[in-house]
Amino acid sequence: MDAQEAEEWATYANEAFALSLVRAKEDEESLSPEEAFDGFHPTFTYPIFGEEQRVYGYKDLLIELKFSSGSLRQYFNVKYSERLPPSPAVDDIESKLLEAKVLLPDEDAFLKQVELDSTAFKPLGTKMHSYSRRVSHALRPDGASDVSWDRKPSSSMSKTPEPEEETELVEYEIFHCTWKTPGFREYHRRIQIFILLYIEGGSFIKEEEEEWEFIILYEKRQRKHSPEVWTYHFVGYSTLFPFYCYPEKVRLRISQFVILPPYQQEGHGSALYSAIYQYVLASPHIAELTVEDPAEAFEDLRDRNDLKMLLNHQEFMREALGESHVSTGGGPARHQRHRHGAESLTSRTNGVGGKKKKKNEGKLMPPTDKAFIAKWKGNLKIAQRQFQRLIEMLILKHID
Ligand code: ACO
Repeated sequence: MDAQEAEEWATYANEAFALSLVRAKEDEESLSPEEAFDGFHPTFTYPIFGEEQRVYGYKDLLIELKFSSGSLRQYFNVKYSERLPPSPAVDDIESKLLEAKVLLPDEDAFLKQVELDSTAFKPLGTKMHSYSRRVSHALRPDGASDVSWDRKPSSSMSKTPEPEEETELVEYEIFHCTWKTPGFREYHRRIQIFILLYIEGGSFIKEEEEEWEFIILYEKRQRKHSPEVWTYHFVGYSTLFPFYCYPEKVRLRISQFVILPPYQQEGHGSALYSAIYQYVLASPHIAELTVEDPAEAFEDLRDRNDLKMLLNHQEFMREALGESHVSTGGGPARHQRHRHGAESLTSRTNGVGGKKKKKNEGKLMPPTDKAFIAKWKGNLKIAQRQFQRLIEMLILKHID
């Protein structure tokens, strides 16, 4: 076989893979066309198929990896039009997926499980936070109601009367688990595949490390024709590891964080991150929140949410901007502050200058005030480097 012929038997694994989150028939029917996602692809398959992320030996390859939307029980099916005879060069897809700890129930068992899960599956662990979104459902003039859903939160202020809208409340719930949570070890073995498929350099965590904590986000949906039934669907999760922090606390590190593609870009990552942060703030034994090797998109999410938190923190902002500026409010005070910024800085560093003015001076100017940073970094449990970055961003925003 020449090189060109051999190439015809190779498939880019990220495209061949089709993941889907399967709901019970009755629950599928109540989804809008936009919500009823057909399937989505992994971002990375090199942990399963090697550096080149290629599967060799098949034509028209499709690897369907289906998850029951709540319990995440899995089924996979490999389809192809032609396959080369078995040889060391031909990838054995089944055994590679088994190495990745993907389980293999048959399709009938899988579909039965999906129907069962629909009412039987309930999240494991302790509920720590919830939020809801009202999604709008535009009605066609003929009254049909299966068009133009919008998963994004609808704002009653900006609603236009046409087309007529029906709205539905969708809830989201966040749960905290540890290895001690009954049934969680087994559940975690089913979710961890998402780490390989979506986080660059991601790997399975060690089950023998007892300290791991897990925060899991679910969509909670009311059945259209039996409103007393609520069903749960996995949206994303994060793994956290506590490191000892002298003398008697821990530093909690976000190790892995993933929101599944059908739910991305809708604010769920921010909601999950905020819930983790609130958990850290409310836990006296945790000194600060850190992040392991964050991807660029995650750094972005963290910066946006941390900045929003700081800007909404009245006491912090009062001290950061200076008392007089907050109390007088508005534009003129900001201008006054900038005009005197350089002067204040000089007077602070060389010790010259009126006492009264120094008292009212804000902190959002270089060089940063070490005592101010130490106090608020500690109170807000934000890691040193991140807090320094945030202050720099606030300084830039303020100068603007
Ligand atoms: N409607 C439209 N857009 C919105 C809405 C909304 N209601 N709410 C937020 N957005 C926008 C945000 O403004 C943001 O826009 P930007 O990208 O232009 O800044 C964007 O959506 C993303 O914010 P969120 O929706 O809050 O975040 P998301 O749920 O998409 O999660 C994440 C982000 C976690 C990075 C996700 O994309 C993901 O899981 N990626 C794959 C795995 C990954 O990279 N994980 C992080 C690895 S690092 C680590 O694990 C420590």
